Amino acid sequence: MDEKLKQVEQILKKYGQEQLLDGYNRLPGEKEKQDFLNSILTVDFNQIEKLFASCKESKDFSNSKIEPIDYVDKSKLSKEDYEKYEKIGSKKIKEGKLAVVTMAGGQGTRLGHTGPKGTYDLGLDTHKSIFEILCDTLKEAREKYKVDIPWYIMTSDENNAETEDFFKKNNYFGYPEKCITFFKQGKLPMLSTEGKILLNEKGEIKEAADGHGGIFQSMLKDGVIYDMKARGIEWVFIGGVDNVLVKMVDSVLIGLAEEKHVLAAGKSIVKAGPKEKVGVFCKKNGKPSVIEYSEISEEMAAETTADGELKYGESHILCNLFNIKAIEKISKMELPYHVAFKKAKYLDKDGNVVSPTEPNAYKFEAFLFDAFESLDDMAILRVKREDEFAPVKNAEGVDSPETARKLYIDFHNKNK
Ligand code: UD1
Repeated sequence: MDEKLKQVEQILKKYGQEQLLDGYNRLPGEKEKQDFLNSILTVDFNQIEKLFASCKESKDFSNSKIEPIDYVDKSKLSKEDYEKYEKIGSKKIKEGKLAVVTMAGGQGTRLGHTGPKGTYDLGLDTHKSIFEILCDTLKEAREKYKVDIPWYIMTSDENNAETEDFFKKNNYFGYPEKCITFFKQGKLPMLSTEGKILLNEKGEIKEAADGHGGIFQSMLKDGVIYDMKARGIEWVFIGGVDNVLVKMVDSVLIGLAEEKHVLAAGKSIVKAGPKEKVGVFCKKNGKPSVIEYSEISEEMAAETTADGELKYGESHILCNLFNIKAIEKISKMELPYHVAFKKAKYLDKDGNVVSPTEPNAYKFEAFLFDAFESLDDMAILRVKREDEFAPVKNAEGVDSPETARKLYIDFHNKNK
């Protein structure tokens, strides 16, 4: 018997994952069989056991001291402070010390768009894609600061080739190609409710993107941190792909972080109401943190202050700035995984594709903002929703292309 097959059988037996070999003999050729065995050998089964055990733990903040976080309101800054921060930040940008990263590894399933989310045509008269809209802001910064800001785009295995092709086809939207770098995020197997690794339609291990918290390790592994340091980068703005008003180049944010001597800064907006699907900044055991909307209790989300405002009302909009030193430190840490219960197509024991109508599988994601807790402090800059937050998340209704388009048009009309 093939040595490798024997080795794989032993490992699978040890971890109770023998079902993975159910379809082994159905794989079409020797190459597919070898690839499959190799893919099993790369799985960290100890990690899988730990992840499955974590599915049964409920998120509970009762052992943590949660408090609201201090913030600086950009619109209420004195003229002197505003100018001071802007001056410090502008100097850094002009000196080429800023890089930006767009996280575009998500699937965009809620939007119902088949390609990478950034390729979505927002429906403006110009028919610009989200990527082009984001790139416009870098081109503006180029004019203003006379510098080419390096742009790193995090993709995933599923959408990397399509994303790179899209940029090439569109001539990098007129931005210098040498300033655009793609790197891929990691992935993890999906598990059944019994903790068994699932197979996909092709009979391969069913994997899913491991969340944007893996970004720091991917940046280390793919040489992005090395590249940034070689370019003399000090500050890195990291944002999501799905906000068409994202302000990736913000001198005031950089100036504030510098002035407060912190290694990270995040932008917040006032939460629209207790049920808005946004994470909120807070202090957890004295450290900066974000409680995600899927994990906050109803009571906590609805708590108000004496003047009637939400106690936890500083919404996290996935617009964060990190010092390169913080990125280096975090890239060597393991962030916790959050569990999501999802509908996932899989191959059953007899080789039939099953398309569940109800959630059937666990997916594991690390969140970038869990890294904040490893920093002593961070600066929060409250900005205006109408100036910086136009999310494209759902196909219709709230946070849809229609609402984002309106916000985008209103903002640009106001700032003509
Ligand atoms: C996210 C934030 C939430 C914030 C809200 C604001 C998370 C987990 N939560 O919620 O705190 O208030 O945005 O709009 O991010 N992505 C990857 N790889 C992945 C997963 C996501 O690159 O594996 C990217 C997506 O392409 C997208 C962004 O991260 O750009 C947000 O991801 P999504 O999972 O849609 O988060 P939300 O639920 O919208």
